[in-house]
Amino acid sequence: MRSATVNAALRSWLPWTDRQGRFSQLRGATFALLLVPALMLLYAAWMHQLGSKPWTEAIHQTGTWAVRFLIATLAVSPFRRLFDWGKLIGIRRMLGLAVLAYVLGHLTLYCIDMAFNWGLIVSEIAKRFYLTIGFVALLGLVALGVTSTDGMIRRLGGKWQKLHNLVYPIAVLGLVHFALQSKIDVTQAVLMSGLFVLLMLYRGLYRWKLTISIPVLIGAALFAGLATAVIETTWYALTSGVSARLVFEANADILTYPEFASVRPAHWVALAGLVVALVHGLRARTSRPPRRARQPATA
Ligand code: HEM
Repeated sequence: MRSATVNAALRSWLPWTDRQGRFSQLRGATFALLLVPALMLLYAAWMHQLGSKPWTEAIHQTGTWAVRFLIATLAVSPFRRLFDWGKLIGIRRMLGLAVLAYVLGHLTLYCIDMAFNWGLIVSEIAKRFYLTIGFVALLGLVALGVTSTDGMIRRLGGKWQKLHNLVYPIAVLGLVHFALQSKIDVTQAVLMSGLFVLLMLYRGLYRWKLTISIPVLIGAALFAGLATAVIETTWYALTSGVSARLVFEANADILTYPEFASVRPAHWVALAGLVVALVHGLRARTSRPPRRARQPATA
């Protein structure tokens, strides 16, 4: 009897089961997808496909995936509401812990690359601004990770939400770290920053209790796209000699793309927002009518 209880408790801890210990397709698929980048990296390393600087390449890949998963984590709450998809909350903790795992892997690879020379590692982190803010972001993620258990949520009570709201400044630090180390091409960092802006706009819509409608979501998409173009233009204007006008003009031109890969981050962000508006509209049309309307009319 006791072992059955222990088994049930253990089953509910597995990444692919829900709180009742039953297999969950959503959690199972998410867990598998989160493992894919790590497995692909291991495979590439095993096959010697990471180029002439394999450790550096692995540092880059783990860092990039950490930021992508961080953005995915931040998307859970707005998407849950926008698409009326309650079950999505069941993968938020797993996504957040995956961010932490990739970031810890990122730091471990950095330490290996520095041959575990602790004096040098500490002085580099203290001296180089982009490493310092990466380190602060990492400390923040560790704090969120260790307080993400059910026990800690109960123990911290109302303070838990306040602490976990730190994820937003942590994300900003991660994005600045990403952009600062990007050297010439900040496309990926700008894209992630634009998606972050879009998600913050959704958060604002709910916080300010605005009515969520398709026109409002289209407005948010276009605004986030414009903000992304401004971020990109400002970055290049401040860090390089590239003309701000040319960068902004490249963002204004949406018709003459020579190739798929050259689509500007601002356009990806606006497109992502428009897709969200479309899916929201479709979900709203097919969702159940309000409870009161479904009740049979009484005489
Ligand atoms: C102690 C903490 C950290 C250290 C020591 C560190 C170190 C590094 C280093 C050495 C690079 C490559 C720089 C280059 O090649 O010039 C890098 C890139 C990167 N890091 Fe970190 N990092 C830390 C924390 C973080 C955190 C917390 C995140 C995300 C939340 C992150 C995301 C990234 C990203 C996205 C890149 C660029 C990847 C790319 O360009 O493909 N790092 N980091």
